[in-house]
Amino acid sequence: MDKLLIEGATPLTGNIEISGSKNATLPILFSTLLTEKKCTLKNVPDLMDVHTSIKLLNQLGKFLNYDSQTHTVEVESSSPHTFEAPYDLVRTMRASILVLGPMLAHYGSAKVSLPGGCSIGTRPVDLHLEALKKLGAKIKFEEGYIHAQAKKLKGALIHFKNVSVGATENTLMAATLAEGMTTISNAACEPEIVDLALFLKKIGAKIEGEGTPTILIYGPTNFQSANHTIIPDRIEAGTYLMAGAITGGNITLSNGCPEHVQATLQALKDCGFVVSTKNKTIQLKSEGPPSALSVSTAPYPGFATDMQAQLMALLSTGVGRSQILESIFENRFMHVPELLRLGADIQLQGNTAFINGLSSTGKNFSGATVMATDLRASACLVLAGLAASGKTTVRRIYHLDRGYEKLELKLQALGARVWREKE
Ligand code: UD1
Repeated sequence: MDKLLIEGATPLTGNIEISGSKNATLPILFSTLLTEKKCTLKNVPDLMDVHTSIKLLNQLGKFLNYDSQTHTVEVESSSPHTFEAPYDLVRTMRASILVLGPMLAHYGSAKVSLPGGCSIGTRPVDLHLEALKKLGAKIKFEEGYIHAQAKKLKGALIHFKNVSVGATENTLMAATLAEGMTTISNAACEPEIVDLALFLKKIGAKIEGEGTPTILIYGPTNFQSANHTIIPDRIEAGTYLMAGAITGGNITLSNGCPEHVQATLQALKDCGFVVSTKNKTIQLKSEGPPSALSVSTAPYPGFATDMQAQLMALLSTGVGRSQILESIFENRFMHVPELLRLGADIQLQGNTAFINGLSSTGKNFSGATVMATDLRASACLVLAGLAASGKTTVRRIYHLDRGYEKLELKLQALGARVWREKE
């Protein structure tokens, strides 16, 4: 298992390129289960979760080939020989639940391991299952597996009582093969859903309203081949902006999508950083430590829960008392005890964190060994390590490898003293 060593307190400067979006890539890869037609996907990031998804699809009998040099996935024409997504793969990546909708819709049968809990909360899949039932699926549970069956799905009106990215994606994919019109109301509006819809439209689906709370899908689709380029990763972009800010640096990101990171840019501006955007470029300039902020996470276009941990690291270095309300996941403060070990001053009350900025008392993070429990918590600890005086060791960085392409190389390109070692 690898660990990351960081010698912090160096302002980051320079220019790096943002990779393709992990959370757009995964559902698009799984959506290829809807068809046997060939597709080409470009700007696919070289990440553990992408490799796990390809492994799962290959196990299901699809033939996918990934070229990490060109970041291209070729999906060959092939049809599944098994309809089972096993526990071992689903356990390591909850997004595997997204095979359920497309596999059921295309083959009439799907068996997917129940994902179980994870470090950021219980993360149920009830909304996914209710929606598929509305489309006509029969669902039962046996030995930890969801068994879904349907001879033919039928379009339906599906209203989600809560906004869910994954449930919207599963339903959207399944509905492309359902007979007649499906309406998804209270749909998630995330850019990754828009990108999935765009890909589905390129391969022949008729979809309207993606990016709004009401999505209409007219099925069944007669699929065709297509090429698609994945959108830039807005969470990766946000994480590097926070890395620039927490070190008091000046950085430029290219190949990003400024429109998708508006809430993060607003938070950075509100803290006193100077941000500017032009086409696919985002620039950040620091003018002192961050001022205090009060933020609540929310579905897109609100402040992303996937940026909450990184923002907490940044605000910990600031001036004054900040407040972050986590409104999406019930247990997403696992990074707090580790930040405390680096010297942060944070109190938790229910789903709100109160953060006393260290700069108010002339203090800073000081390096220590820390261990992360999930992907974004790991990113937050790397940020804190970049700001800290002395040496920080971040253990269990397999979480980072799931979601950040060439993290230490990109940070090194910005002047960070960071390297990877075997445990
Ligand atoms: C996706 C993202 C993840 C991000 C999250 C919220 C991917 C691969 N992952 O996760 O990075 O943090 O959106 O932006 O895209 N819920 C239910 N029942 C369900 C489904 C969800 O109660 O059937 C709840 C969840 O527990 C959570 C909330 O709804 O409290 C939002 O979760 P959801 O949007 O579904 O997150 P994911 O799709 O799992």
